[in-house]
Amino acid sequence: DEDINLRPQRLEEYIGQTDLKENFKIFITAAKQRNEALDHVLLYGPPGLGKTTLSYILAHEMGTNIKTASGPTIEKGGDLAAILSQLEPGDILFIDEIHRLSKAVEEILYPAMEDYCLDIVIGKESGVRSIRLDLPPFTLVGATTRAGDLSAPLRDRFGIVSQLEYYEQSDLEKIVWRTSKVMETEIVPEAVHEIALRSRGTPRIANRLFRRVRDFAQVMNNGVISEDIAKMALDRLKVDHLGLDDVDHKYLRGIIERFNGGPVGLEAIASSIGEEALTLEDVYEPYLLQIGFINRTPRGRVVSAKAYRHLKITFNEGLFDD
Ligand code: ADE
Repeated sequence: DEDINLRPQRLEEYIGQTDLKENFKIFITAAKQRNEALDHVLLYGPPGLGKTTLSYILAHEMGTNIKTASGPTIEKGGDLAAILSQLEPGDILFIDEIHRLSKAVEEILYPAMEDYCLDIVIGKESGVRSIRLDLPPFTLVGATTRAGDLSAPLRDRFGIVSQLEYYEQSDLEKIVWRTSKVMETEIVPEAVHEIALRSRGTPRIANRLFRRVRDFAQVMNNGVISEDIAKMALDRLKVDHLGLDDVDHKYLRGIIERFNGGPVGLEAIASSIGEEALTLEDVYEPYLLQIGFINRTPRGRVVSAKAYRHLKITFNEGLFDD
């Protein structure tokens, strides 16, 4: 991952998510004082807010190793058993997209989380029996964009459940400043402000925009990110003043022009604009909901008057009827 050197290593360096950070300081200190593994952690929230970064920080702060996996890549019970059996005391096992684990894999995870043991079935037919292997104490850190999609028994086995929230403007500005220092790029405060403003509350987007703006600055302005360069670059990247990109615009205009502003089901929108329903739901809709541009109703998505104003489209009920 190219973000690896941008990632903070310590909780002290991690910007934003203040409540979560303060709580983790306590949990980490307490676990270390007791010489125990940190309790299992579930991190949930929209993509790009730092769930993976935080997991690496937890390992660093606890002074342990981290092993990483992802829900869809752990296909069989045996895959998980192989991962679990390699853990050392206190290790962190990070499972991204944990809501995508199969039922069979989840069943193996329960005793592992609860009793640090692994039940293995051996033999066939009449000779079938189960043996129980001990595991070292470890910490499962699960990450998901959709806490609601986790099965109740799995969710209940996490002792620490934390939601990551969209970042405030001031925190995003701190992150952009930090990135400019790590990348040794000169930037003016107005440009920092502009990049942060158009990052949809998301550090990953702030860092991505920073890289592209830096390209324009390098080729056109001797490497200095001025206010003009930043605004010009962001306009050319088709990121508007609220950070909405091409897909957001296509999505909103699609609902307005083809479905009269809604309500309309997700699948219908997705196929009408040629995007994956899951991507829209996990990546695009959370921010549009957050800024009040869409609402979810039992009958589907509805575009708000606020979004019409932003897109400079007159709200004209019935215009597209018949
Ligand atoms: N880079 C990405 N997310 C960050 C955060 N929350 N704090 C510091 N640097 C970051």
